[in-house]
Amino acid sequence: MAKRLYIETVGCQMNMLDSEMVVASLRKSDFELTSDVEQADVILFNTCSVRQHAEEKIYSALGKLRQLKQLRPDTIIGVLGCMAQKDQRHVLDRAPFVDLVIGPGQLHRIAELIDRAGGAESAQLAVSLERRDADRRQVMRSHETFDPLRDPEMRPTPYQAYLRIQIGCDKFCTYCVVPMTRGPEQGRSPDEILAEARVLADQGCLEVTLLGQTVNSYQYRKGEQTVRLPDLLESLHAISGIERLKFVTSYPKDMTDGLLQAVRDLPKCSPYLHVPLQSGSDAILKRMKRGYTVSQYRDMIERVRQTIPGAAVSSDFIVGFCGETYQDYQQTVEMLRWCRFKNSFIFKYSVRPGTRAAERLPDDVPDGVKRQRNNELLAIQNSISETENLAFIDRQVDVLIEGPSKKAARGHSEISALQLMGRTHCDRIVVFDGPDQLVGQIKPIRIDRVTPHTLLGSLVD
Ligand code: 5AD
Ligand code: SF4
Repeated sequence: MAKRLYIETVGCQMNMLDSEMVVASLRKSDFELTSDVEQADVILFNTCSVRQHAEEKIYSALGKLRQLKQLRPDTIIGVLGCMAQKDQRHVLDRAPFVDLVIGPGQLHRIAELIDRAGGAESAQLAVSLERRDADRRQVMRSHETFDPLRDPEMRPTPYQAYLRIQIGCDKFCTYCVVPMTRGPEQGRSPDEILAEARVLADQGCLEVTLLGQTVNSYQYRKGEQTVRLPDLLESLHAISGIERLKFVTSYPKDMTDGLLQAVRDLPKCSPYLHVPLQSGSDAILKRMKRGYTVSQYRDMIERVRQTIPGAAVSSDFIVGFCGETYQDYQQTVEMLRWCRFKNSFIFKYSVRPGTRAAERLPDDVPDGVKRQRNNELLAIQNSISETENLAFIDRQVDVLIEGPSKKAARGHSEISALQLMGRTHCDRIVVFDGPDQLVGQIKPIRIDRVTPHTLLGSLVD
């Protein structure tokens, strides 16, 4: 009989993709998914370490399994991903009943490790080398990318897929734990990337989103030649079946003219860029070691606007970083107003052990102040998003239809069962009524109303 697998995933798109790979590989070993944790033979949490809050939620979810493990000791419980790599054995101090601790660079071993955990006395620990433990080559090799199995049933929709082109990060922003948990930056070989994209196209995938922590810093040495993101985009563009190409997350300093021209000249490239600014104050950017000034970021945005008119740009911000004064914060507000992002993700600074900021800079902005700045920035961004969306009223946009809207999916009583959702080429969410046979197609929609995060419209006959 098939074994039952329950998996919960938090964090970024990389984690979503890792979970997709884990499930695809376990399905090959005769597992089937269950949404009922009580029924599962194997329970996995794919975790995130970017903020403390995300970790606390996982430890509290694990705590709830203590009793289940006592009642059914054969159930295998695993902690995967960044928290596994960061905390390693310490996961077991807080949750001694855990059977598996597997870092993101070791997930290709998941099936074998579950097998071993079955008969083992002690927990199976599989983590990658830490940077200081060995030379760069060895550390790189211990962070293996896990990409080979593409299973359309395992994606949120079969028409869209993430494709990893880069693992790790070498930027070492002082607040960030990712260079530790995901290891050194490594570009995947273009041959592997193209082969995987062809598989995706054959499976009916229309939209491919390329993933990397600093995706636009992608490079791969091939003999004398260095392949960069614009070269990759050009090759991917030639694959028939793929209609849309996106890439996240971009690093401001590496947004070259060549890349912007590629996005402009290749019609399948979405006019959408996610380029986190983090702060609008030079003093804070320097303390974050982001590698650019506010004025360089402004120049980059101006180049985007000139080269790709109408492009949507989105950002991330951290409020309440070490030493952030009211004046620093006001400069962030000013930049937020000037940049006119499509949307922004805003986070309160969270100290991450092992980072430069944790070691050298005091976390001196009170939580209440962080919260207030967070809420205020969100309100300003919402009003900008709504104003930007107003420009879409009475316009026709091409929408890749993903499925029922959130409300329709929940069976909301006043909402028609046929309320569908999709996205424009520039990544805006569109909601409209239509038959569900349209799911997986690109159709023109006329927009008649907007909110900060959604365009509402109707099908064009
Ligand atoms: N505290 C708060 N936010 C953080 N981010 C990364 N590290 C931290 C931290 N220590 C945010 C950044 C990044 C996003 C993915 O998470 O804004 O772009
Ligand atoms: Fe973290 Fe900075 Fe790398 Fe992004 S670029 S993953 S914020 S270290």
